[in-house]
Amino acid sequence: MSLKLGLIGFGTVGSGVYERLVQSKDEIKQLLGKNIEVAAILVKDRQKKRVVDVDAFVTTDWDEFTNAAQFDIVFEAIGGVEPAFTYTAEWLSKGVPVISANKKLIAEKGQLLEEIAEKQSTYYGYEAAVAGGIPIINNLKGTLATTSISRISGILNGTTNYMLTEMIEKHRGFADVLLEAQELGYAEADPTDDLEGYDAWYKIRILSRLCFGKWPVADEFPRKGVSEIKDWHVEVGERLGFKIKLIAEAWKAESKVSGQVTPAFLTQTEPLANVRGVTNGIAIEGSSIDKLLFIGPGAGKEATANSMVEDFLFHERSYNTKRGLGSVEKQVEETYTYMFIFLDHSERDEALNWAKQNEIAIVDTFSHHEGEGWIMEGTEASPFVTYPIFGDVSTRNRLKTVHSAQFGAF
Ligand code: NAP
Ligand code: HSE
Repeated sequence: MSLKLGLIGFGTVGSGVYERLVQSKDEIKQLLGKNIEVAAILVKDRQKKRVVDVDAFVTTDWDEFTNAAQFDIVFEAIGGVEPAFTYTAEWLSKGVPVISANKKLIAEKGQLLEEIAEKQSTYYGYEAAVAGGIPIINNLKGTLATTSISRISGILNGTTNYMLTEMIEKHRGFADVLLEAQELGYAEADPTDDLEGYDAWYKIRILSRLCFGKWPVADEFPRKGVSEIKDWHVEVGERLGFKIKLIAEAWKAESKVSGQVTPAFLTQTEPLANVRGVTNGIAIEGSSIDKLLFIGPGAGKEATANSMVEDFLFHERSYNTKRGLGSVEKQVEETYTYMFIFLDHSERDEALNWAKQNEIAIVDTFSHHEGEGWIMEGTEASPFVTYPIFGDVSTRNRLKTVHSAQFGAF
């Protein structure tokens, strides 16, 4: 008897899952003692030319799909909340495990879907939904299930990290690099999700739930994407030896879980500063573990499909644990202690007054023909363009001697 598999979606991820299943058939049989068969695939557009040869029933009709077989497991790789929610809820309600890559659905409806799965004693797996090929979800649920975690931070969006790397290192244009990220299968169907930080926001909310035991309130996690970043901000940061990255983080202090998605400057001491291209990186901090780092491909067909198939095998081998609320030993009061403020020349006096009124120390200032960059102590909300700085700011390059002609510190 073979395991019957259903596949919802046959784009970058869905076709990757299909190929990975076909390639691994023999290994899977050895591991599970059963053959597998992709019994049916649901897509949206019947006319679309498929680049992957398919030996399975393909349909655009939900009823045809559901009646095609008694599925043992369903893979969901479409995107967005509906109809993915209705489809997933239906299978879980029938006790059929669902493996998903859909971080938006999980962040928005994960609590409800997990409750249905629990009630039906079945499995809702979403290893592939966060950080593509990095096995972070099942590590948090499994080998780190009782580890106290005080903070989790990461580069969770492959598209923007790829774009920032190409634009900064190779001086390529925004539109050109975005198009390439789309062609490579990294970007979301609507790339606004990547550029405005929504994708990373969904992912950090999922990670926060796994680290701190409950689903966070979305509004309590502010979100900023990469669209406000100006070339000259990057230029100033680079010359100091800082790297600009879209950082997602969540932390727990005094029983309160907080989080955010924001572009930030990372100093040379921060391991995530060197995470380039489509690669994602995640740092987990806790008193027993100090800092654990996970680095690997954050998007793309093979890496994501690999995570979905491994998630399925993980489940089939009955490895399914739950993270409780846990206690946090090491409290983190603040996630950064310095900020980098960028000012137009006309904002200088206003900024000086603001710093004085709020008693915020100005650590260093840098001039540029487009404006000024000020490193300041603290984490106050400012009325200016502001980035947190992560890491040891004392390691910044000394520009006075290196670039004094055009770019001196004063
Ligand atoms: P994609 O290439 O755009 O593929 C989406 C697939 O879903 C297509 O096959 C499409 O059908 C099908 N589909 C869309 N709406 C449907 C509907 N209402 N009914 C049936 N089928 C429908 O997207 P993707 O990149 O594979 O991403 C899929 C999911 O994985 C998303 O949730 C995404 O966030 C997540 N994810 C993606 C990556 C990545 O690197 N791409 C990594 C991790 C997670 P047609 O082919 O007929 O249009
Ligand atoms: N669009 C997502 C990214 C896909 O670029 O990270 C992987 O989740």
